Amino acid sequence: MMSSHPFTAVVLAAGQGTRMKSSIPKVLHRVGHLPLIHHVDNLLKAVGCKESILVTAPHMDTLRQELPHFKHAFQDSPLGTGHAVLSAKDFLQEGKDVLVLYGDTPLITPPTILAMLEAKREKGVEIVVLGMTIPPFLSHNAHYGRLVQDADGFIDRIVEYKDATPDEKAITLCNSGVMLIAGQHILSLLEAIQNNNEKKEFYLTDIVKIGTSRGLKTIAIDISAEELMGINSPQDLSMAESIFQARQRKKFLDQGVRMQDPSSIYFAYDTLLQEDVLIEPYVFFGPQVIVERGAHIKAFSYLEGCHVKEACTIGPFARLRPQTVIEKKAKIGNFVEIKNATIGEASKISHLSYVGDAFLGSRVNIGAGTITCNYDGYKKHKTTIQNDVFIGSNTSLVAPLTIGEGALIGAGTTVTKDVGKDALTVSRTPQTHIKEGAVKFRSRYQPKS
Ligand code: UD1
Ligand code: CA
Repeated sequence: MMSSHPFTAVVLAAGQGTRMKSSIPKVLHRVGHLPLIHHVDNLLKAVGCKESILVTAPHMDTLRQELPHFKHAFQDSPLGTGHAVLSAKDFLQEGKDVLVLYGDTPLITPPTILAMLEAKREKGVEIVVLGMTIPPFLSHNAHYGRLVQDADGFIDRIVEYKDATPDEKAITLCNSGVMLIAGQHILSLLEAIQNNNEKKEFYLTDIVKIGTSRGLKTIAIDISAEELMGINSPQDLSMAESIFQARQRKKFLDQGVRMQDPSSIYFAYDTLLQEDVLIEPYVFFGPQVIVERGAHIKAFSYLEGCHVKEACTIGPFARLRPQTVIEKKAKIGNFVEIKNATIGEASKISHLSYVGDAFLGSRVNIGAGTITCNYDGYKKHKTTIQNDVFIGSNTSLVAPLTIGEGALIGAGTTVTKDVGKDALTVSRTPQTHIKEGAVKFRSRYQPKS
């Protein structure tokens, strides 16, 4: 899907983003567990962009650290989008086309950018803008810039909503902010921008009007408004999340994953599922989850940082935490939490257990209520359980600990020392009986007649 058209990307992210009501920079908020700016970065990688410049405000160090492979331009004060692109001037190579994107617009897909590059080449124009048509009944609410077309369908100018006349506000073709600009003209266009407008800002959008006056041509590509959605508020962020989730669900259904109620399942940007995985309703995937073919994830399970291999059964109500590997055909049942552990092939942990910092071999059976006591208040310790071990219910395994192959641990045991191969281990206070004791006990409470 790569493009052979060489271009430089300039990503704008110096705006304050005050409407997010948050102390972290707007573009570090996440959709599908991935910061917005990384969605843009992934888009640029997918279309084969070799050089990207990020425009940020001087105080945004955390943001620049997130993107060490970008070149960094500083905009000292937010004087407008045109001024922001001009801040990257030193990095703009003579003649190379420039693609301007916003850091807060995470849902654009690679085919859209490739279509812009192709349109510029095919039509021989100097500027391509990405536009969206909004439904007429929404037009007076959508405060986007308006794309004003001439009689031949070229874009004559972009009018910002605040500066538009009522007739211009009625135009339904709107500006997304994404623009591809001919390298040999960009600097002289940017330098001609003035700030004589309602917001006293240097608008990037003004380069269209300036270009028209110089005989340069602009066209628009009109795509779905959903893809061009920009994030300005917590509400926008949740809307983008739901669009992202809908895309993930469709992708997995197309790949042969079965879901009875896709809308109740949440995926991360990097979730990997093979065909014939079955996912019941209300399952949550955090980052870095791989599930192999034939696995069955039952309802209300929470998975992150784990690898579930072929034909496993997980849940209902299971929690798999990072660094967990569940080998083939293993079974993890209800109210079981696993962390930093490998569970061997065909092993079973069916009910109410915590297994952390552990390695389990194959065909191990862990009884209900078994706990690995992995933490002593200072350090984490490891538990190793070899092949074919059977652990009775309500067992505490005090790590560090190794339980040898084929060993049998009686219910209710607290295991504090290593157990040898095929041993039977029990630690219980002996059971005592008081003959007729229950009768004596009850008689204390019964009224004497
Ligand atoms: C901009 C467009 C408008 C378009 C809309 C789409 C202009 C003048 N207007 O308006 O036509 O419909 O986007 O969402 O371009 N930024 C900087 N430095 C600045 C100002 C902004 O880096 O001085 C960055 C922001 O961080 C943001 C992007 O540029 O990522 C857009 O800025 P914003 O203020 O949101 O522009 P809009 O008013 O929405
Ligand atoms: Ca905006």
